[in-house]
Amino acid sequence: MILISIVNVSCLVLPYIPYFRPVETIISSSVEHAKALLEQGQLVAIPTETVYGLAANALDKTAVIEIFNAKQRPSFDPLIVHIGNKSDVVLCARYIPANAQKLMDAFWPGPLTVILPKKEIVPDEVTSGLDTVGIRMPHHALTLQLLQQLNFPLAAPSANPFGYISPTTPQHVFDQLQNKIPMILDGGSCDVGVESTIVGFEGELPVVYRLGGLTLEDIRNVCGDIKVEVNSSSNPKAPGMLKSHYAPTKPLKIISSDFYFNKLDVESALIVFGEFKNNTNAQVHNLSLTANYNEAASNLFSFLRILDTNENVKEIFAVLLPSINLGVAINDRLNRASFQE
Ligand code: TXA
Ligand code: MG
Repeated sequence: MILISIVNVSCLVLPYIPYFRPVETIISSSVEHAKALLEQGQLVAIPTETVYGLAANALDKTAVIEIFNAKQRPSFDPLIVHIGNKSDVVLCARYIPANAQKLMDAFWPGPLTVILPKKEIVPDEVTSGLDTVGIRMPHHALTLQLLQQLNFPLAAPSANPFGYISPTTPQHVFDQLQNKIPMILDGGSCDVGVESTIVGFEGELPVVYRLGGLTLEDIRNVCGDIKVEVNSSSNPKAPGMLKSHYAPTKPLKIISSDFYFNKLDVESALIVFGEFKNNTNAQVHNLSLTANYNEAASNLFSFLRILDTNENVKEIFAVLLPSINLGVAINDRLNRASFQE
């Protein structure tokens, strides 16, 4: 009898459960250690000027699949390939429009990702089967040093669980990915604080798919006419453009600047920008008292995380910024964070 039941059990088709082996996560600024792990096909969180990335060898399919597992990221959402020298772009891209070259010359290293036709060497796992690849040269001394010492580029999405707020400090990464990755390369807080601006090309026309750390004004100054196509949620070319993204777990509501702020209670947090003299009981968090857009962008994700974990906050309210400069990218994040199905 016992024998029969053992045989029966072994014949059952068990559901596939990914094998998860916890690892100790170290936070260190050792480029050598990061390099050694990446060369073994492991994942390392890396600092950039925008947000922390979760990196692996972009040319190693198995390592790239591990990124998707660790982030619980759907496989249809392609990754950005990070390079350490401008000239490395030709390793991954088949063709470079003149305007792409102009933008790379003007803004790399920096918060600009260009979408270009891909070479075969870039695995489909990185690009989710698209025949284009997103490429960027980040502006962070440690990560540039690391990239320049490696003989492969790094695929890296933001180092957060899919859909949650992007990390801008090593601690943010640790809070969510500890025991899942062996190392966080400690490069301090990210200067820019919002993700890169993503630009593709229709012929020579630059098309902005994601608003980010490089402003539309900057792109227009170099290329003249541009198209901005950031609103559709189902177009696979509209990167990171799901309507709900960058979202805290608590409800976030956008309110207009003529709102009756005195209606908010003490359990509400209110995110504002620049001079704010309204009467309110809410806990006011000012992205920049001096209305500095760079300061506001670098504070945004930290503020959202702090409010999301603060027990004294039940609901988050935010007033949008003027739609200029980095205000455009910050508003985009706030709008997506507030989106409810
Ligand atoms: O600032 C950044 O860009 C950060 C740092 C780590 O570099 N990275 C980042 O990665 O924000 P991620 O994966 O969170 O967002 C990248 C977006 C994705 O939404 C993806 O859809 C889009 O880039 N993307 C990547 N390759 C693409 C391609 N070939 N065509 C269209 N969109 C692409
Ligand atoms: Mg992301």
